[in-house]
Amino acid sequence: MLRSISNIVTVVLTLSLSYANPSSRSWAAYCDSSACKSPSCRCSSIDIPGGLNYSQTPQFVLLTFDDGVNVGNFDYYQQIFKNRLNRDGCPAAGTFFISHEYTDYTMVNTLYKQGHEIALHSITHNVSTDYWKNITVNSLSQEFAGERSLISNFASIPVDAMQGIRLPFLQMSGDNSFEMLQKDNFLYDCSWPTRHTSPGLWPYTLDYASTQDCVIGPCPQQSWKGIWVIPMLSWIDGRNQICAMVDACLELPTTVDALADFMIGNFNRTYLTNKAPFGLYIHAAWFNVDPIHFPAYVKFVNYIQSRPDVYLVGGTTVIDWVKNPVPLNNMNNSTWSNCRKASSSTCTPKTCKLQKGSDERYMTVCSGNCPTVYPWVGNPLGRAT
Ligand SMILES: *[C@@H]1O[C@H](CO)[C@@H](O)[C@H](O)[C@H]1NC(C)=O
Ligand SMILES: *[C@@H]1O[C@H](CO)[C@@H](O)[C@H](O)[C@H]1NC(C)=O
Ligand SMILES: *[C@@H]1O[C@H](CO)[C@@H](O)[C@H](O)[C@H]1NC(C)=O
Ligand SMILES: *[C@@H]1O[C@H](CO)[C@@H](O)[C@H](O)[C@H]1NC(C)=O
Ligand SMILES: *[C@@H]1O[C@H](CO)[C@@H](O)[C@H](O)[C@H]1NC(C)=O
Ligand SMILES: *[C@@H]1O[C@H](CO)[C@@H](O)[C@H](O)[C@H]1NC(C)=O
Ligand SMILES: [Zn+2]
Repeated sequence: MLRSISNIVTVVLTLSLSYANPSSRSWAAYCDSSACKSPSCRCSSIDIPGGLNYSQTPQFVLLTFDDGVNVGNFDYYQQIFKNRLNRDGCPAAGTFFISHEYTDYTMVNTLYKQGHEIALHSITHNVSTDYWKNITVNSLSQEFAGERSLISNFASIPVDAMQGIRLPFLQMSGDNSFEMLQKDNFLYDCSWPTRHTSPGLWPYTLDYASTQDCVIGPCPQQSWKGIWVIPMLSWIDGRNQICAMVDACLELPTTVDALADFMIGNFNRTYLTNKAPFGLYIHAAWFNVDPIHFPAYVKFVNYIQSRPDVYLVGGTTVIDWVKNPVPLNNMNNSTWSNCRKASSSTCTPKTCKLQKGSDERYMTVCSGNCPTVYPWVGNPLGRAT
């Protein structure tokens, strides 16, 4: 009796110690595809999921936009997606990686109701890359799960509709961001660039060791069960250098047609090989850098939509497909094409005047209730302190 109680005590102690001790992380082992099987696990690989033929494979394209959503960019988003449907009749969708500063949460609510994917890009968007490189798991939680609570509360979006993150400046923090994703019930990261683009790396899980090249380290080395990576297939710019975000590509062509062709050329590198999901990753501010950027972007999107196999969807939808691949000719099937539109979400707009230190901030929210203080890390709902 005494002995079994002391055994139980030992077990409980060991469990709580191993929970608290970061060294309980385990190194990721070589990925054997006979052990790592869909839908919950996938090795990093250029193989088309489900062993589908090239011609039976859809080409997913991720149109993503980072940072605050506000009057400075909302109109671009409305124009880009206006009347755009995928081949299955569902609205074409983008993914918005949202950071808190200068975000109008009523606009986020609108994007969500239009069927776009809302994802996280931190509260502070701290400009120091060292801050992100060396950040702790707890601070990552405050930044990303914190922004998720903020959006859920002030943009009236269910917490579980927000599943993905992108780190500011794509600055990885080794295993820390992946530990946070697992701890806080996220599904995927889309911050990790790769040179493997032609053929391209398909999304995969971190249950086992990744074979992805590490462009902006530190990269993860431990096992994170069920956490997905959507590799950012790099582009090649006018200098023949790689760029993960299109706004970082340099020496671009100077006419609308040539710039659209440059985009199509990058798209073709993946599209004509293994159709790994292709990303056009930008900050909306890029449209203001040069007046040819926006028309070239629209021309590019029109072009890819004229291909019979292109689908414009959010990151979570891509992962859903990779988990359970559906051949192209069956994608009208209702189990796939249940248009991912938010059922409903009411928004009673209210503009709140707040103080961030000595700065004034206006924050437009759906909840009808203003936060008491300016929401920030550690206090995402802006409660009285
Ligand atoms: C793929 O194509 C080959 C030959 O073109 C054919 O034999 C095979 O049945 C196809 N497989 C699928 C899953 O469509
Ligand atoms: C799929 O459904 C859409 C919308 O209903 C329709 O326009 C399209 O022709 C269908 N495509 C196929 C291949 O059945
Ligand atoms: C950014 O992080 C640094 C610490 O690395 C901190 O001193 C600074 O206040 C942070 N800035 C913002 C805007 O959060
Ligand atoms: C990284 O963070 C640790 C713990 O917070 C700190 O001791 C260390 O000085 C930091 N290193 C850098 C380069 O900022
Ligand atoms: C892209 O590939 C298509 C074939 O799908 C080809 O017709 C087109 O010329 C290519 N464009 C560029 C810019 O590489
Ligand atoms: C739709 O897909 C499901 C699951 O793959 C399959 O059982 C069903 O027969 C398909 N329906 C049609 C109309 O193709
Ligand atoms: Zn950003």
